[in-house]
Amino acid sequence: MNEVIFETVVSTVDAAGVPHIAPMGVRYEGTGVVLMPFKPSATYDNIVATGHAVLNIVTDTRVFAGCVTGRRSWPLQPAQAVPGVYLQAALSHVELRLAGSDGDAQRPRLRMARVHEVQHAPFVGLNRAQAAVLEAAVLVSRLHMLPPAKVAAEMAYLQIAIDKTAAPAEHEAWAWLKAAIAAHPLHAKATTP
Ligand SMILES: Cc1cc2nc3c(=O)[nH]c(=O)nc-3n(C[C@H](O)[C@H](O)[C@H](O)COP(=O)(O)O)c2cc1C
Repeated sequence: MNEVIFETVVSTVDAAGVPHIAPMGVRYEGTGVVLMPFKPSATYDNIVATGHAVLNIVTDTRVFAGCVTGRRSWPLQPAQAVPGVYLQAALSHVELRLAGSDGDAQRPRLRMARVHEVQHAPFVGLNRAQAAVLEAAVLVSRLHMLPPAKVAAEMAYLQIAIDKTAAPAEHEAWAWLKAAIAAHPLHAKATTP
């Protein structure tokens, strides 16, 4: 059986308080949250340095598409109970404390305990275009290892949900992702205009 994974954005700060955000798939285990940041990564280093992270539940998929296309400056607010920040766009956020690690050298499982959580806005339902942007963001984060024909075929399929159900935010995110593919040396030729 596969693990159940939820795509979120994890925000952290370094020892000097400089914030960092990264899309991250998380697992829920009992009342805790499991993060699996690769090593090396700023997210891992920051969690180890501060002992904390913030989980952001986000449906503005521009944050996901932005992070994989070099747009990491999203409005942030100070966390309330731990050293850290949360995304202003978050529907809710959970402030977390590092409770343990399995010590894996490449991709440690970090067990995080909930310290404080806040609901900012309601979840209004699943949107196909948001899911399509998320899938395309995953493709864009793997362009260096994916065959151009596969990326082109998957983008053509995902385009259907964009055309039928996207809000302006998803159209904007989609444009960033298409531009990143078109600009990639491996994929530029396979991209349809
Ligand atoms: C939908 C999505 C899910 C991701 N999940 C993870 C994850 O679970 N662990 C991880 O290390 N990186 C994950 N990434 C990639 C990170 O967001 C990205 O590599 C990030 O830059 C991590 O390194 P950093 O902390 O140095 O920024 C994911 C990316 C996307 C688009």
